[in-house]
Order: sequence, then structure tokens, then C-alpha cells
Amino acid sequence: MGERKDEHLRIALDHERARRGRPNDLDDVELVHHALDGIDPARVSLDVEVAGMRWTSPVYVNGMTGGTAHTGDVNRTLAIAAREADMPIASGSVSIALDDPSRAPWFRVLRDEHPDGFVLANVGADRSADDARRAVDLLRADALQVHLNAAQELVMPEGSTRFDTWAASIAAICEAVDVPVVVKEVGAGLSGRTVARLADLGVAVADVGGAGGTDFVRVENDRRVAGDYAYLAGWGLSTPACLLDAASAGLPLLASGGVRHPLDVVRALALGAQGVGVASRFLAIAVEDGEQALVDEMRRWRDHVRALLGLVGAASPADAVHADVLVRGRLRELAELRGLD
Ligand code: FNR
Repeated sequence: MGERKDEHLRIALDHERARRGRPNDLDDVELVHHALDGIDPARVSLDVEVAGMRWTSPVYVNGMTGGTAHTGDVNRTLAIAAREADMPIASGSVSIALDDPSRAPWFRVLRDEHPDGFVLANVGADRSADDARRAVDLLRADALQVHLNAAQELVMPEGSTRFDTWAASIAAICEAVDVPVVVKEVGAGLSGRTVARLADLGVAVADVGGAGGTDFVRVENDRRVAGDYAYLAGWGLSTPACLLDAASAGLPLLASGGVRHPLDVVRALALGAQGVGVASRFLAIAVEDGEQALVDEMRRWRDHVRALLGLVGAASPADAVHADVLVRGRLRELAELRGLD
């Protein structure tokens, strides 16, 4: 189990390196330049409020890892950088520590290093309500992420395919915990139909976790002895496609999956996301360049998001939804097929 965490990290990093500079559907989101619309970035606030969660940054570090000595070290670096750059941070799935408490310190390091920060715990949708409470307690978490990952479980050699139990389990978790529940995909996206179902189940927020970045079908396929699911790579809805599809599905939305730079953050905000999660890009800097480089990079993202919001005349992340957006190419085709324009 622990070895799986180390393998995920190594393979996801290899894939991130190979993706650098490559386009994804976020490139089909064009913010129209209006030369007189800009406001002074000094007047832009980065504060965000989503379902009662108050953040001082629209960018957060999404759930990735923990549970082994190596991933615990990575968590320490991520948490220190999140603290220094004043960003919320989510842990990777803590299931491994619920099953084997000796692994808990490699998650708890997130709270130890970011004592006053906004920390989200993370479990799979197959965990019991009691496990969800224990996950929140473990990190003294301010919110709980519950991840959906059906495509990953299918391809994962040791995956569990009891997907039909998930909806009831999510409803029980929402009842049981006293922090907001954020349901997220891990890179295959949440459709509008899924988000509407989540709203009925008592979920507070949906993180669309769309395709375009880390692809767990590919990650798990690379772990198989005979990697026979290669054809399924890219399965899912891209992050901007989800934002369009789920815009009126009844829940506040967060966006993640394939976010490469501050312009992607502002594109997602303009499509209605209230916050934007980054996983593999920050992970790569943490592992390749270390703590100070990640602090500098995260601070640069904050400064640039503020600058770009000013450029499009948005006084806050929430205000970016009023920016003038053109949707092109593959993304436009999908929006038309879904009757979204
Ligand atoms: C992840 N992700 C993830 N998500 C989750 O909810 N629980 C988890 O345990 C993990 N584990 C994990 C490990 C590693 C190494 C990576 C890179 C990612 C998924 C993550 O939160 C995010 O949804 C995807 O990575 C897509 O975002 P990026 O990587 O394209 O920014």
C-alpha cells in the first residue's frame, strides 16, 4: 500500500514533466482584452468565501500524498510553502493511515507545519462516516475532501469497483462530519448531472477535478505489468468543460485538473469557479527544486493572479465571472453538443 503512494508520486511526476508546455482545453478559454477595463492590482482582493469556507487565496494546493517516509517529506515541503504563501492545502487520501495508524504522522505533518492554515482532509467515497470523522480529527481539518475516482479504480491493479455504494456513503459522510464536504474527482471531471446529484446528497462544494492534467488512467496503466488500458488515456471531461456543464447544477464549484499557470487560474475563475486547485505543478517544484523555490513560485502565482484580475477589471476572484470570455475549438464543440450556449 505504501509503495503505491511512492509509485503514484514518481509516475505522476514523470507525466507532469512530459506535459510541460503542452496545450489543454483551458487554452480554448480566451479572456477578451478590453483596453479600458483594467483596475489597479493594488485594489484587487484575493479573499474567497465558498460555502462558509474563508480563504485568503483563490489558489489552493490540492490533495496528493502522504503515508510513507518519502511522501511525508513531500507533504512537509508542500505545507511549509502553503503556509509561507498563505494558501489552503488538502492532504492526499488518509485512508492508509486510518487502516494503519503508524502512518498518521506523515499526514499530520500538514497541520504541524501549517497550524493556522485552512487544511482539508481527504478520503475515498467508499469510507464509512466514522472513518470520515477520524480523517477530520487526524488533521484537525477545516473541511473534508471526498474523492471520486471510478476510472482510476478500474485500471488500478488492486482497485475496488463497488461504485454503486458511493452515493449512499457520501450522504452518510455529509451527515456525520461537522465541516464542509467537498467532493472532487481526481482528473476525470464532474459533469453537471453528477454535481446536481451531489447537491441532493448534502455536499457543500464540488471540485470538478477535470481532465487536462494528471491522468490517473495513465498513471495506473503504467503500474500494470501489462499496461493494457493505454487506449483509455484522456478519459473524462476536461476542467473547463465541467465548469460549463455544471455552472447551474446547484453547488458552488472549485476547479482543478491541468492548471499550469496563473492565467489558467483566472480562466477557471471567469468560467465560474470560486477557487482553483493545483496539484502536480506544485508537486514537481517541491520535489525538483525544493521548499524555497516552491514558496517563491506560489507567491509569484498570487502576485500574477492579482495582476491578471486587475487586467480584466475584476476586483476579486468572485468578480472574474463578469469577465468577457470566448470559448473556442474542442471546448466550444462540447458546449454546443451539451446545449450550453
Ligand atoms: C493526486 N490526486 C489525489 N486526489 C485525491 O483526492 N486523493 C489523493 O490521494 C490523490 N493522490 C494524488 C497523488 C498524486 C501524486 C497526484 C499528482 C495527484 C489528484 C489531485 O488532487 C488532482 O485532482 C489531480 O492531480 C489533477 O490536478 P493536476 O495534477 O492536473 O494539477
